[in-house]
Amino acid sequence: MTRFVNHALKLTPTRDELAAQDFVSSLRSHVLNPMAASMKSRFEAELAAKMPEGATGRDVLKAMQTHPYFRFYSAARVKAQEMVWASVRPTVERERTDLKRRFEALSADTTRAQGSLKLDTSFAIPRNVTALDVHLMPGNYHQDGGHGDLAAGALYENGLSVFSFGLMGETLDDIGRSVALWLSLRHPEFRPGAILDLGCSVGHQTLPWKRSYPDAQVTGLDVAASCLRYAHARAQAMGLTAHFLQADATDVPLPDASQDLVFSSMFLHELPVKDTRAVFREAHRLLKPGGMMLHYELPPNEALSAYDGFYLDWDSHYNAEPYYQGYRDLAPQAEAEAAGFSGFFQAAVPSLGWYGEQAVRKAVTEQADIGTDKVGRLSDGVNWFIYGAWKQNGAAA
Ligand SMILES: C[S@@+](CC[C@H](N)C(=O)[O-])C[C@H]1O[C@@H](n2cnc3c(N)ncnc32)[C@H](O)[C@@H]1O
Repeated sequence: MTRFVNHALKLTPTRDELAAQDFVSSLRSHVLNPMAASMKSRFEAELAAKMPEGATGRDVLKAMQTHPYFRFYSAARVKAQEMVWASVRPTVERERTDLKRRFEALSADTTRAQGSLKLDTSFAIPRNVTALDVHLMPGNYHQDGGHGDLAAGALYENGLSVFSFGLMGETLDDIGRSVALWLSLRHPEFRPGAILDLGCSVGHQTLPWKRSYPDAQVTGLDVAASCLRYAHARAQAMGLTAHFLQADATDVPLPDASQDLVFSSMFLHELPVKDTRAVFREAHRLLKPGGMMLHYELPPNEALSAYDGFYLDWDSHYNAEPYYQGYRDLAPQAEAEAAGFSGFFQAAVPSLGWYGEQAVRKAVTEQADIGTDKVGRLSDGVNWFIYGAWKQNGAAA
């Protein structure tokens, strides 16, 4: 299942390692589909009627915590998550030195693309990263063996390939591709010349912006050096020019009013609330008047039933994602407005890989609100929940 990694950093797992990866992908699919459905029907049959008026996800968790099926489901899901990383780690470790060699060759090869990488050796990685192994990934994003080391980036990309069992597209970039297409159709008049992707990790959702807007200067920013090296080498391997920068999204070393689009994907829920607010203010500072802030994220608790809120917040309690729930308790529109934005919008973008370009076009022309209850892991379909807002023309940085 490292099969969704198809570029020059591709690893060569043994047959046993491949079999283990396939098993883990199937196990996760089983836990998240039939087991999750069984858990929900048990809740509905046994506990829903006993929930207090106005119950929240926290109330549902309290009621479910001692339920044997919830415990079974949680144990299986935690184990499957640990097995994701265990199934790719031996391959990454075996090829660690060779990955370094490939990184050096790809960085030096300016015939493929003219991207850049700017790392800061004095950079202090924030505690929301250093104190955790987010989603149980050993060593987290920031483990770093120094010059040329790609191990954390390789672990993340290959692990995601196993973890997502095909949901993220052939090259794990379906979110970026779908959202970039949606934006180009929804706002054909908006032609961003400078695009910044915050918390870009290995650049999966950064590069689709370069494909959609080839003349744009595309920058990916992250705190983790190994992921950024990997992102740079991956972009060069794919022949796409992008620039990667080590920095904190709450304090970006780029000038005021230098960007047209500030984007993020699966990023904000990994930040403490105060940092999410700082990121919104920073996005406002970085944008030119008339620019857009756009995020792909989990839907907020306010838009979901108590059960769905409980279901999504599972990660906060059992998957080393302590900021998940606090983030999902926020109201995105109020937060964007507090940072100075206006013209808030939200949408569920159909997956380009699963449903094709026509479905994205239809979502734009019909302005169909698929609904926040139909996104992420809450439905059988694959739709990406996005929201955004504009920096008003004439607004100061
Ligand atoms: C789930 S990954 C994002 C994945 C990527 N955006 C995608 O959609 O494929 C979260 C990333 O945020 C980075 N990160 C965490 N805190 C950060 C901060 N304060 N500033 C910038 N990046 C940060 C982590 O290093 C990690 O690479």
